[in-house]
Amino acid sequence: MTVSDLTAAAPACARGPVRRARARHFAMTAPRHFAVEYAINPWMDTSVPVDVDLALRQWETLRATYIDLGHTVDLVDAVAGLPDMVYAANGGLIVDGHAVLAHFTFPQRAAEADAYAAWMTAAGWHPERTRHHNEGQGDLLVAGSTVLAGHGFRTDRRAHDEIAELTGLPVTSLELVDPRFYHLDTALTVLSDEPATIAYYPPAFTADAVAVLREMFPTAIEVGSADAFVLGLNAVSDGRHVVLPAGATGFADQLRAAGFEPIGVDLSELLKGGGSVKCCTLEVYS
Ligand code: ARG
Repeated sequence: MTVSDLTAAAPACARGPVRRARARHFAMTAPRHFAVEYAINPWMDTSVPVDVDLALRQWETLRATYIDLGHTVDLVDAVAGLPDMVYAANGGLIVDGHAVLAHFTFPQRAAEADAYAAWMTAAGWHPERTRHHNEGQGDLLVAGSTVLAGHGFRTDRRAHDEIAELTGLPVTSLELVDPRFYHLDTALTVLSDEPATIAYYPPAFTADAVAVLREMFPTAIEVGSADAFVLGLNAVSDGRHVVLPAGATGFADQLRAAGFEPIGVDLSELLKGGGSVKCCTLEVYS
């Protein structure tokens, strides 16, 4: 069944508003060389073993889920010695034909930018660099015609201005305060564009950022701690189907009540690196 079949099959009397799926274009990198060899976020513990075969199987299930929903998934070649490359969202931000390449905060991940630049170039984009650190879609989420941009841990606030200039899109800066939610995509997910709807975990943000989000997204779903702490917000929506970490069952209920269709996937191995569904998914907004 494809995205359009499922949308067509949606009952008109579904609870909440009818949500429409739009076919998406994603890029993913297999966790062939995944490991937790260094700790650059509080989820990473180098003493906990990682099962690479299981990580590959879990990642493959995520990829198959997208394909079954009718989305396109491009593959970026994994590079040995870059164990975090599976978190493809961090590779950059591709929107309206502009490709902004990541400028990683930690030296351990710096070389990933070259790998993502090579993929972008081969795919026909002209990757552009920022002077200040930016960790791609980890911190830069497109909501309608705006970019929601996180800062506080990884992406430098000053990169937000560079991104506004490079993409021509308005950028809304949101400050993160809890190191466990070190990227914007660990604490906020965009559910639909029109009308722009999000879900987020308020305690991960400054009071000012929460006020901005409440003003911009009056129908936002506020997620509780139990779901946030399994990285439930690290989710990918096509406007109707929301692929999210399987453990975020409370958030799944909230999504159902709002007319979305949650699809849980288990990415327990990739959680050991501090990432889940969205981290493994770079969306190409063209
Ligand atoms: N170990 C990686 C890091 O700390 C995880 C990145 C997760 N990616 C994301 N988009 N949140 O950089």
